[in-house]
Amino acid sequence: RRLLLVNGPNLNLLGTREPDVYGHDTLADVEALVVATAAERGFEVRAVQSNHEGVLIDAIHDARTDCAGIVINPAGLTHTSVVLRDALAAVALPVAEVHISNVAEREAFRHHSYVADVASVHVIGQGVAGYATATQQLLDNLT
Ligand code: DQA
Repeated sequence: RRLLLVNGPNLNLLGTREPDVYGHDTLADVEALVVATAAERGFEVRAVQSNHEGVLIDAIHDARTDCAGIVINPAGLTHTSVVLRDALAAVALPVAEVHISNVAEREAFRHHSYVADVASVHVIGQGVAGYATATQQLLDNLT
């Protein structure tokens, strides 16, 4: 069984991008954390990161046939993207939404999430460790 891990725009720069906000862990660290967390329950992970909305949507569509759930940090698309939300709704897989920073305490434009109500798990402001929490909670709902 497999999970899809989706990281949105600019998360390829994790580790060097605004480290005071997002910390020093890299995208490779995030992906390794989710792989290890899922492996504890016998799940594999397919990881995708893109700065292009359509690439993320294609990956979500592809998950329909061979993934049991999706862990996603949509990054800035959280606050802008109806199409990303529609893709998640379309595939109808369980979704865990992760944000490294506490978006509720940041600028007003980060307070709304188009993804929130198509996700059953929300982990916000726990840093990179939140990806492990989100993966565990998603798997709790699956197994
Ligand atoms: C983020 C929060 C978003 O507001 C921001 O655009 C990001 C990262 C987070 O993980 O804290 O790129 O999703």
